Amino acid sequence: MIEITVVSTIPSGIFPQKALELGAKLGLPAATDPAQCHTPLLLAYTAEGLQLLHRPAPAKRYTTLLAIDFVGGKNGYRLQNERTTRQPLARAAGIRPGYRPTVLDATAGLGGDAFVLASLGCQVTMCERSPLLAALLDDALSRARQAFPLAAEAASRLTLLGIDARHHLTAAEVSYQTIYLDPMYPQRSQSALNRQTMRAIRMLVGDDDDSGQLLELARLRATERVAVKRPQPSPHLNETRPSHAIFMKNSRFDVYLAVERILSTTCDISPPP
Ligand SMILES: C[S@@+](CC[C@H](N)C(=O)[O-])C[C@H]1O[C@@H](n2cnc3c(N)ncnc32)[C@H](O)[C@@H]1O
Repeated sequence: MIEITVVSTIPSGIFPQKALELGAKLGLPAATDPAQCHTPLLLAYTAEGLQLLHRPAPAKRYTTLLAIDFVGGKNGYRLQNERTTRQPLARAAGIRPGYRPTVLDATAGLGGDAFVLASLGCQVTMCERSPLLAALLDDALSRARQAFPLAAEAASRLTLLGIDARHHLTAAEVSYQTIYLDPMYPQRSQSALNRQTMRAIRMLVGDDDDSGQLLELARLRATERVAVKRPQPSPHLNETRPSHAIFMKNSRFDVYLAVERILSTTCDISPPP
Protein backbone atom coordinates (compact mmCIF):
# COMPACT_ATOMS: atom_id res chain seq x y z
CA MET A 1 0.00 0.00 0.00
CA ILE A 2 1.55 3.30 -1.09
CA GLU A 3 0.95 6.13 1.34
CA ILE A 4 0.36 9.47 -0.34
CA THR A 5 -1.07 12.72 1.02
CA VAL A 6 -2.61 15.32 -1.29
CA VAL A 7 -1.61 18.85 -0.37
CA SER A 8 -0.81 22.29 -1.71
CA THR A 9 2.61 23.87 -1.25
CA ILE A 10 0.95 27.16 -2.24
CA PRO A 11 -0.67 28.38 0.99
CA SER A 12 -3.19 30.78 -0.54
CA GLY A 13 -5.71 31.04 -3.36
CA ILE A 14 -7.71 28.11 -4.66
CA PHE A 15 -4.97 25.45 -4.28
CA PRO A 16 -5.45 24.30 -0.65
CA GLN A 17 -9.15 23.74 -1.43
CA LYS A 18 -8.27 21.98 -4.70
CA ALA A 19 -5.96 19.65 -2.73
CA LEU A 20 -8.81 18.70 -0.39
CA GLU A 21 -11.11 18.06 -3.34
CA LEU A 22 -8.55 15.97 -5.22
CA GLY A 23 -7.85 13.95 -2.05
CA ALA A 24 -11.57 13.19 -1.73
CA LYS A 25 -11.79 12.26 -5.43
CA LEU A 26 -8.79 9.91 -5.24
CA GLY A 27 -9.70 8.50 -1.82
CA LEU A 28 -6.41 9.75 -0.38
CA PRO A 29 -5.74 11.72 2.82
CA ALA A 30 -5.42 15.43 2.16
CA ALA A 31 -4.07 18.43 4.02
CA THR A 32 -3.86 22.15 3.42
CA ASP A 33 -0.32 22.52 4.81
CA PRO A 34 2.71 20.33 3.92
CA ALA A 35 3.88 20.62 7.55
CA GLN A 36 0.88 18.46 8.53
CA CYS A 37 1.96 15.65 6.15
CA HIS A 38 3.90 12.64 7.39
CA THR A 39 3.85 10.34 4.35
CA PRO A 40 7.02 9.91 2.25
CA LEU A 41 4.99 10.81 -0.86
CA LEU A 42 2.96 13.94 -1.51
CA LEU A 43 0.72 14.69 -4.47
CA ALA A 44 1.13 18.43 -4.32
CA TYR A 45 -0.11 21.54 -6.10
CA THR A 46 3.11 23.49 -6.54
CA ALA A 47 4.02 26.67 -8.39
CA GLU A 48 5.01 24.37 -11.30
CA GLY A 49 1.71 22.48 -11.30
CA LEU A 50 0.56 19.22 -9.71
CA GLN A 51 3.55 16.99 -8.88
CA LEU A 52 4.32 13.76 -7.07
CA LEU A 53 6.94 14.62 -4.45
CA HIS A 54 9.11 12.23 -2.49
CA ARG A 55 11.02 12.51 0.78
CA PRO A 56 13.48 9.62 1.20
CA ALA A 57 13.91 8.53 4.87
CA PRO A 58 16.55 10.81 6.48
CA ALA A 59 15.99 13.77 4.15
CA LYS A 60 14.02 16.81 5.29
CA ARG A 61 13.09 18.13 1.88
CA TYR A 62 10.78 16.70 -0.73
CA THR A 63 12.07 16.25 -4.28
CA THR A 64 10.04 15.88 -7.45
CA LEU A 65 9.41 12.29 -8.49
CA LEU A 66 6.82 12.80 -11.26
CA ALA A 67 5.69 15.96 -13.02
CA ILE A 68 4.12 16.53 -16.42
CA ASP A 69 4.92 19.66 -18.38
CA PHE A 70 3.67 19.91 -21.96
CA VAL A 71 4.88 23.48 -22.30
CA GLY A 72 8.52 23.39 -21.14
CA GLY A 73 11.19 20.71 -20.73
CA LYS A 74 11.43 17.83 -23.20
CA ASN A 75 7.82 18.14 -24.40
CA GLY A 76 8.19 21.88 -24.96
CA TYR A 77 11.44 21.39 -26.86
CA ARG A 78 9.91 18.72 -29.11
CA LEU A 79 6.90 20.96 -29.69
CA GLN A 80 9.04 23.89 -30.84
CA ASN A 81 11.80 22.01 -32.69
CA GLU A 82 10.86 18.44 -33.61
CA ARG A 83 7.40 18.54 -35.14
CA THR A 84 8.22 16.33 -38.09
CA THR A 85 5.90 13.78 -39.65
CA ARG A 86 8.95 11.67 -40.55
CA GLN A 87 9.66 10.72 -36.93
CA PRO A 88 9.10 7.02 -36.15
CA LEU A 89 6.10 7.65 -33.86
CA ALA A 90 4.31 9.64 -36.57
CA ARG A 91 4.97 6.96 -39.19
CA ALA A 92 3.87 4.22 -36.79
CA ALA A 93 0.63 6.10 -36.14
CA GLY A 94 -0.06 6.32 -39.88
CA ILE A 95 0.42 10.08 -40.29
CA ARG A 96 0.98 10.99 -43.94
CA PRO A 97 1.10 14.28 -45.84
CA GLY A 98 -2.44 15.67 -45.74
CA TYR A 99 -3.72 12.88 -43.52
CA ARG A 100 -4.09 12.87 -39.73
CA PRO A 101 -5.77 9.79 -38.23
CA THR A 102 -7.93 9.92 -35.13
CA VAL A 103 -5.90 8.25 -32.38
CA LEU A 104 -6.64 6.45 -29.16
CA ASP A 105 -3.56 6.39 -26.94
CA ALA A 106 -4.74 3.51 -24.77
CA THR A 107 -1.76 3.71 -22.39
CA ALA A 108 -1.27 7.44 -21.87
CA GLY A 109 1.21 7.39 -18.95
CA LEU A 110 2.79 10.84 -18.82
CA GLY A 111 1.19 11.80 -22.13
CA GLY A 112 4.43 12.51 -24.03
CA ASP A 113 3.59 10.38 -27.06
CA ALA A 114 -0.02 11.57 -27.17
CA PHE A 115 1.16 15.17 -27.05
CA VAL A 116 3.52 14.63 -30.00
CA LEU A 117 0.69 13.16 -32.08
CA ALA A 118 -1.64 16.02 -31.10
CA SER A 119 1.03 18.59 -31.95
CA LEU A 120 1.25 17.01 -35.41
CA GLY A 121 -2.48 17.59 -35.88
CA CYS A 122 -4.18 14.37 -34.73
CA GLN A 123 -7.25 14.35 -32.52
CA VAL A 124 -6.09 12.13 -29.67
CA THR A 125 -8.08 10.47 -26.91
CA MET A 126 -5.90 9.34 -24.01
CA CYS A 127 -6.83 6.56 -21.59
CA GLU A 128 -4.92 6.33 -18.32
CA ARG A 129 -6.21 3.97 -15.68
CA SER A 130 -3.99 5.10 -12.81
CA PRO A 131 -6.10 7.80 -11.08
CA LEU A 132 -2.95 9.54 -9.86
CA LEU A 133 -1.34 9.70 -13.30
CA ALA A 134 -4.68 10.80 -14.75
CA ALA A 135 -4.75 13.66 -12.21
CA LEU A 136 -1.23 14.72 -13.24
CA LEU A 137 -2.26 14.60 -16.92
CA ASP A 138 -5.43 16.57 -16.28
CA ASP A 139 -3.50 19.32 -14.49
CA ALA A 140 -0.79 19.46 -17.19
CA LEU A 141 -3.45 19.71 -19.90
CA SER A 142 -5.17 22.61 -18.13
CA ARG A 143 -1.86 24.48 -17.94
CA ALA A 144 -1.03 23.77 -21.60
CA ARG A 145 -4.47 25.02 -22.71
CA GLN A 146 -3.56 28.40 -21.22
CA ALA A 147 -0.01 28.53 -22.57
CA PHE A 148 1.35 29.94 -25.84
CA PRO A 149 -0.70 29.21 -29.00
CA LEU A 150 1.26 26.18 -30.27
CA ALA A 151 0.93 24.38 -26.93
CA ALA A 152 -2.67 25.45 -26.44
CA GLU A 153 -3.61 24.23 -29.91
CA ALA A 154 -2.00 20.81 -29.34
CA ALA A 155 -3.65 20.51 -25.92
CA SER A 156 -7.05 21.36 -27.44
CA ARG A 157 -6.75 18.21 -29.59
CA LEU A 158 -6.29 16.00 -26.52
CA THR A 159 -9.12 14.40 -24.58
CA LEU A 160 -8.35 12.56 -21.34
CA LEU A 161 -10.32 9.59 -20.06
CA GLY A 162 -9.21 8.43 -16.62
CA ILE A 163 -10.34 4.85 -17.22
CA ASP A 164 -9.10 1.45 -18.29
CA ALA A 165 -8.87 1.44 -22.07
CA ARG A 166 -10.26 -2.11 -22.16
CA HIS A 167 -13.54 -0.78 -20.74
CA HIS A 168 -13.55 2.08 -23.22
CA LEU A 169 -12.98 -0.32 -26.10
CA THR A 170 -15.66 -2.79 -24.99
CA ALA A 171 -18.35 -0.62 -23.40
CA ALA A 172 -18.80 2.10 -25.99
CA GLU A 173 -19.43 2.17 -29.71
CA VAL A 174 -16.01 3.61 -30.31
CA SER A 175 -13.66 3.37 -33.20
CA TYR A 176 -10.42 5.10 -34.00
CA GLN A 177 -8.34 5.02 -37.12
CA THR A 178 -5.20 4.38 -35.06
CA ILE A 179 -4.87 2.83 -31.63
CA TYR A 180 -1.51 3.28 -29.96
CA LEU A 181 -0.20 1.09 -27.13
CA ASP A 182 2.91 1.63 -25.04
CA PRO A 183 2.47 -0.74 -22.09
CA MET A 184 5.07 -0.91 -19.31
CA TYR A 185 8.28 -2.51 -20.49
CA PRO A 186 9.46 -5.70 -18.82
CA GLN A 187 11.57 -4.82 -15.75
CA ARG A 188 15.04 -4.94 -17.31
CA SER A 189 14.35 -3.28 -20.62
CA GLN A 190 15.40 0.21 -21.57
CA SER A 191 12.71 2.84 -21.84
CA ALA A 192 12.51 6.25 -23.46
CA LEU A 193 11.52 7.59 -20.04
CA ASN A 194 14.43 7.95 -17.61
CA ARG A 195 15.03 5.35 -14.93
CA GLN A 196 13.72 7.29 -11.95
CA THR A 197 10.56 8.23 -13.84
CA MET A 198 10.05 4.63 -14.92
CA ARG A 199 10.57 3.34 -11.38
CA ALA A 200 8.04 5.82 -10.07
CA ILE A 201 5.46 4.85 -12.69
CA ARG A 202 6.04 1.15 -12.04
CA MET A 203 5.56 1.73 -8.30
CA LEU A 204 2.17 3.30 -9.08
CA VAL A 205 0.86 1.04 -11.86
CA GLY A 206 2.76 -2.28 -11.77
CA ASP A 207 3.58 -4.27 -14.89
CA ASP A 208 0.62 -4.05 -17.31
CA ASP A 209 0.37 -7.85 -17.50
CA ASP A 210 -2.95 -7.55 -19.35
CA SER A 211 -1.52 -5.74 -22.38
CA GLY A 212 -2.03 -8.81 -24.61
CA GLN A 213 -5.76 -8.52 -24.03
CA LEU A 214 -5.57 -4.80 -24.78
CA LEU A 215 -3.90 -5.57 -28.12
CA GLU A 216 -6.70 -7.98 -29.08
CA LEU A 217 -9.40 -5.41 -28.28
CA ALA A 218 -7.49 -2.65 -30.04
CA ARG A 219 -7.21 -4.75 -33.19
CA LEU A 220 -10.98 -5.22 -33.20
CA ARG A 221 -11.64 -1.49 -32.87
CA ALA A 222 -8.95 0.21 -34.94
CA THR A 223 -10.22 0.86 -38.44
CA GLU A 224 -6.71 1.27 -39.86
CA ARG A 225 -3.94 0.19 -37.54
CA VAL A 226 -2.65 -0.58 -34.09
CA ALA A 227 0.88 0.52 -33.23
CA VAL A 228 2.65 -1.04 -30.24
CA LYS A 229 5.87 0.29 -28.75
CA ARG A 230 8.16 -2.53 -27.65
CA PRO A 231 11.67 -2.70 -26.23
CA GLN A 232 14.25 -3.83 -28.74
CA PRO A 233 14.91 -6.75 -28.72
CA SER A 234 11.81 -8.36 -27.22
CA PRO A 235 9.10 -10.75 -28.41
CA HIS A 236 5.98 -9.40 -30.08
CA LEU A 237 3.14 -8.62 -27.70
CA ASN A 238 0.88 -11.70 -27.39
CA GLU A 239 3.36 -13.42 -29.71
CA THR A 240 1.36 -11.89 -32.55
CA ARG A 241 3.41 -10.98 -35.60
CA PRO A 242 2.86 -7.43 -36.80
CA SER A 243 2.37 -6.37 -40.42
CA HIS A 244 5.66 -4.48 -40.18
CA ALA A 245 7.93 -2.83 -37.64
CA ILE A 246 9.73 0.49 -37.38
CA PHE A 247 13.05 0.21 -35.58
CA MET A 248 14.75 2.69 -33.29
CA LYS A 249 17.89 2.41 -31.17
CA ASN A 250 16.38 0.78 -28.07
CA SER A 251 12.81 0.20 -29.08
CA ARG A 252 10.56 -0.45 -32.04
CA PHE A 253 6.98 0.08 -33.15
CA ASP A 254 5.12 -3.07 -34.18
CA VAL A 255 2.37 -2.04 -36.59
CA TYR A 256 -0.76 -4.17 -37.10
CA LEU A 257 -2.73 -3.09 -40.14
CA ALA A 258 -6.49 -3.61 -39.85
CA VAL A 259 -6.79 -4.69 -43.46
CA GLU A 260 -4.61 -7.75 -42.75
CA ARG A 261 -6.80 -8.83 -39.81
CA ILE A 262 -9.93 -8.41 -41.91
CA LEU A 263 -8.45 -10.41 -44.78
CA SER A 264 -7.22 -13.17 -42.50
CA THR A 265 -10.60 -13.54 -40.73
CA THR A 266 -13.02 -13.09 -43.63
CA CYS A 267 -11.31 -14.62 -46.67
CA ASP A 268 -11.07 -18.33 -46.98
CA ILE A 269 -8.37 -18.65 -49.58
CA SER A 270 -7.84 -22.37 -49.16
CA PRO A 271 -8.48 -24.32 -52.35
CA PRO A 272 -11.88 -26.03 -52.62
CA PRO A 273 -11.83 -29.75 -51.77
C1 LIG B 1 4.96 3.03 -20.28
S1 LIG B 1 3.62 4.02 -19.73
C2 LIG B 1 3.18 4.91 -21.18
C3 LIG B 1 4.10 6.05 -21.46
C4 LIG B 1 3.55 7.02 -22.48
N1 LIG B 1 3.57 6.48 -23.82
C5 LIG B 1 4.23 8.36 -22.43
O1 LIG B 1 4.57 8.92 -23.51
O2 LIG B 1 4.39 8.88 -21.33
C6 LIG B 1 2.25 2.88 -19.65
C7 LIG B 1 1.00 3.48 -19.05
O3 LIG B 1 -0.12 2.79 -19.58
C8 LIG B 1 -1.11 2.69 -18.56
N2 LIG B 1 -1.98 1.57 -18.94
C9 LIG B 1 -1.62 0.28 -19.16
N3 LIG B 1 -2.68 -0.45 -19.52
C10 LIG B 1 -3.74 0.40 -19.53
C11 LIG B 1 -5.12 0.23 -19.82
N4 LIG B 1 -5.64 -0.98 -20.15
N5 LIG B 1 -5.93 1.30 -19.75
C12 LIG B 1 -5.43 2.52 -19.40
N6 LIG B 1 -4.13 2.73 -19.09
C13 LIG B 1 -3.30 1.68 -19.16
C14 LIG B 1 -0.31 2.43 -17.30
O4 LIG B 1 -1.08 2.80 -16.16
C15 LIG B 1 0.90 3.34 -17.53
O5 LIG B 1 0.67 4.62 -16.98
